[in-house]
Amino acid sequence: MSDLLGYRNQNVVVTGAASGMGLAASNLLIDLGAKVWALDIAAIDVPEAQAIQVDMKDPHAIDSALRELPETIDSLFNCAGVPSPPFSARDTVLINFCGLRYFTDALIDRIPDGGSILSIASTAGMAWKSKLDKVQEFLDLDNSFASAEQWMNANPEACADGYGFSKQCIIVYTMRNAKPLAAKGIRINCVSPSPTDSGFMAKLKGEGNMPDEAIDLFLPSNGRYASGTDMAEPMVLLNSRLAGFVSGVNLPIDYGYCAEVFVGQRDNLLGIS
Ligand SMILES: NC(=O)c1ccc[n+]([C@@H]2O[C@H](COP(=O)([O-])OP(=O)(O)OC[C@H]3O[C@@H](n4cnc5c(N)ncnc54)[C@H](O)[C@@H]3O)[C@@H](O)[C@H]2O)c1
Repeated sequence: MSDLLGYRNQNVVVTGAASGMGLAASNLLIDLGAKVWALDIAAIDVPEAQAIQVDMKDPHAIDSALRELPETIDSLFNCAGVPSPPFSARDTVLINFCGLRYFTDALIDRIPDGGSILSIASTAGMAWKSKLDKVQEFLDLDNSFASAEQWMNANPEACADGYGFSKQCIIVYTMRNAKPLAAKGIRINCVSPSPTDSGFMAKLKGEGNMPDEAIDLFLPSNGRYASGTDMAEPMVLLNSRLAGFVSGVNLPIDYGYCAEVFVGQRDNLLGIS
């Protein structure tokens, strides 16, 4: 098979690799010839990957995972994440954003020229423009969990919607990093999926008590939930050589949901701006 996507023998790290989009991406990357390090808090079953258990809410656990990774990382996929409810707003921001940022910041010096970073945000984070001042204030802090917790205690309203805020932070973090990383030849992008059938969705509807009707409002007009693979394929494309001039982008993967909102074909329930 030709190596059009450029993953053959590349060192690739995937967080959230036990389930859903991260699992689908890991399996696809292995098929494409990558050497995959699969990280998750849950048990990981990705044949041929190196599995590392880590809690993205715990900086010491992240430090220890970092020590197990190879010195050079060609491509990073930040897929770990939780819904709120059932997770508290605080824990959701710590896991979905603070852990992601701490981990990514630590890996940047190990990513060579030509490397790539991809994170999963959400359509629920697409209101980032109207929240930009608070998000930038939060991102201007150092990347420690202690500073983040202190700020959240002082700004409870800004992060009352912990999930939306965590995803706004990912989108703006991606955009802010495009410039410094471009100088190193590293690309950084994120994607914003529409509702996807995964462990996340099961948790949101189960423990989180979110009714089907509340989620259905955000389904694309094709009327269906995405699969993990529907998300993983464009994610793998974005981090690949074929997207070699694409950086700083937040790509909705939503079968046109955001487009419908932009042109007024659908109510803007998420405050997308
Ligand atoms: N499913 C959706 O509808 C949807 C929509 C938009 C965005 N997202 C985002 O997509 C990403 C992937 O989620 P998914 O839908 O594949 O769900 P998923 O639950 O199947 O996968 C998420 C993975 O993250 C892991 N994880 C959770 N907490 C962790 C922690 N503290 N440390 C390490 N790993 C942890 C889970 O164990 C799981 O394997 C998440 O960031 C989620 O916020 C999901």
